[in-house]
Amino acid sequence: MWWLAGLLTAFAAAVVAPLLVYIWPSGGKIKPTSVKVNLQTPLNQLKDGAATKFEAPSNYGFKMIDGGGDNYPGKVSFGGYLVKVSGKTTALSLTCSHLGCSVNFQGGEFACPCHGSVFGISGNVVRGPAQFPLSNYTWKQLSNSQIQVDGYSLQGVG
Ligand code: FES
Repeated sequence: MWWLAGLLTAFAAAVVAPLLVYIWPSGGKIKPTSVKVNLQTPLNQLKDGAATKFEAPSNYGFKMIDGGGDNYPGKVSFGGYLVKVSGKTTALSLTCSHLGCSVNFQGGEFACPCHGSVFGISGNVVRGPAQFPLSNYTWKQLSNSQIQVDGYSLQGVG
């Protein structure tokens, strides 16, 4: 019987320990914060139907506020696009809702290089396999060249 108990203990250690480390990583903590980012195209020069890309500084990520498919509210994303549609500017995550690849803005749409999904400039699905739109971010303008996006500090995580 002792060998069975030993075997079960070894199995639990081998399977459960890595999961615990994944769930509670050692070291740093994920902390909600506002993330300042610089824009490639200043806000006052962003034309209707255009988009400008932004990326999270190292050790920071952005917080998705919408879900669907592989995405969920609160999930971390590391880049996005500020888009202007009919005079209204919104910030979209670049994380594809299919399986999480990063989409690229080209020809007025967002194309995913992994499996061919295409999203409209508002983040809506134009072509699958993705079935859900790109997530929005909560953001505000600090200046024409800088915005602040709700996100996370990831210092020491991972
Ligand atoms: S991850 Fe984008 S289409 Fe599959």
